[in-house]
Amino acid sequence: MLRDDIVESLLGKTTQKKKSRTPAKLDFLQSATGLFLAIFMIFHMLFVSSILISKDFMYSVTKAFEFNFIIDGGSRVPVFISIAIVTLVFIFHAFLAIRKFPISYREVLRLKTFSNLMKHSDTNLWIIQVITGFALFFLGSIHLYTMLTNSGNIGPFASADRVYSDLMWIVYILLLIAVEFHGAIGLYRLSVKWGWFDGDNPKESRKRLKKVKWILSGVMLTLGVATLISYMKIGYAHQSHYGDRYVPQMEISSEN
Ligand code: HEM
Repeated sequence: MLRDDIVESLLGKTTQKKKSRTPAKLDFLQSATGLFLAIFMIFHMLFVSSILISKDFMYSVTKAFEFNFIIDGGSRVPVFISIAIVTLVFIFHAFLAIRKFPISYREVLRLKTFSNLMKHSDTNLWIIQVITGFALFFLGSIHLYTMLTNSGNIGPFASADRVYSDLMWIVYILLLIAVEFHGAIGLYRLSVKWGWFDGDNPKESRKRLKKVKWILSGVMLTLGVATLISYMKIGYAHQSHYGDRYVPQMEISSEN
């Protein structure tokens, strides 16, 4: 019996009566949007952490997203469009996930008892995913709305001012923890569900996948915290010039 079936029958939501193919389609869409968001988050971390290399490097990454290679000086429009697409996928993924949420305190208690009785670590992971997913509804929405309304205001100083002076670090640290656990567990569950790396011995590969999941969370969290500290330091040093935009070294030296 699959874990989802056990959980659903425990919650009294038996799927056996349903002949419709809609639940399977919704399940597939949930997996597909989840995979898209997880891959997006890996690239997002790489782009945001460009600040660890240098302010100039982060500036050129930002400008590339503003299409400065075809639009003179860059434009906020391509950035706004990409944020809007990610926001729509994020909302759709969350909407599909609501189906799986335990809807009453009694259901939560039943799940907890089941998880404790069976020492079923995958159910524990599922519970962590529900809790972090719930947190992401709020934390992710704050960030995405801020980005949508500030699509032309991303860069070494603009981002650092937001993180430090606008106190967004409080949201970011919580968002970082929630998203890294949620994403890594999500990828693990996807691989188990669709049997991507089952090989000859699914039990063994499940153990290996679990290790990979912890490594992924650890690497992403470490990179995220280092990145956040870097924005904090820049924001702290820049607070008296809050709002001033970054001018890259190359432009300063060509002006002199
Ligand atoms: C296209 C959409 C997105 C864009 C353009 C974007 C851009 C950024 C930027 C520029 C920063 C640096 C801080 C700042 O400027 O305020 C940042 C930080 C962050 N973003 Fe996003 N973001 C997007 C979507 C998301 C999503 C969907 C999530 C997770 C649900 C997310 C999670 C985070 C986290 C956790 C940080 C803090 C990074 C760290 O501590 O290293 N972002 N984002």
